[in-house]
Amino acid sequence: MFRIGYGEDAHALAANRPLLIAGIRIVNSPMGVVAHSDGDVLLHALSDALLSAFALGDIGSYFPPSNPAYKNMDSQAILEHVLKLTDEKLSRLVNVAAVVTLDEVKLSPYRTDMQKKLATLLALPPDSVGITFKTSEGLAAGHIQARVVVLLSMR
Ligand code: C5P
Ligand code: MG
Repeated sequence: MFRIGYGEDAHALAANRPLLIAGIRIVNSPMGVVAHSDGDVLLHALSDALLSAFALGDIGSYFPPSNPAYKNMDSQAILEHVLKLTDEKLSRLVNVAAVVTLDEVKLSPYRTDMQKKLATLLALPPDSVGITFKTSEGLAAGHIQARVVVLLSMR
């Protein structure tokens, strides 16, 4: 039986902070995320998408932002934890489709690295990981947003 999952995440941006997307450091961005964790919106949206496919709540259910233990937490560790939580029910992840909305800087030069990174984390071929970039056309400058859908089959 197939399931879809959907997740999204957004963070404010500020100067002199790191910007991580799908575990890839965006080195030429003058802005980075204001976040309790490492602020990787794509990994957070992906983790929520996987949890949602099985109605397992969201990452805040497992890593409450109010708990100081999770400050600056590595989002790859969050995703790994989510994969363990879903392992019993997940037969096969079919594909991942992600959209990242950011006005500045251009992310397309980083797409291949992000696809490879997510493919490695999810044990998928890179051509099963679609990543789309959009600007907000200035309507939401100063923030970054990720939206992710997953298709998978259940055990
Ligand atoms: O949002 P808009 O349609 O103007 O984006 C045009 C193109 O610019 C996108 O299709 C994408 O290829 C690229 N883009 C990007 N990095 C962003 C936003 C958009 O590479 N941060
Ligand atoms: Mg457009």
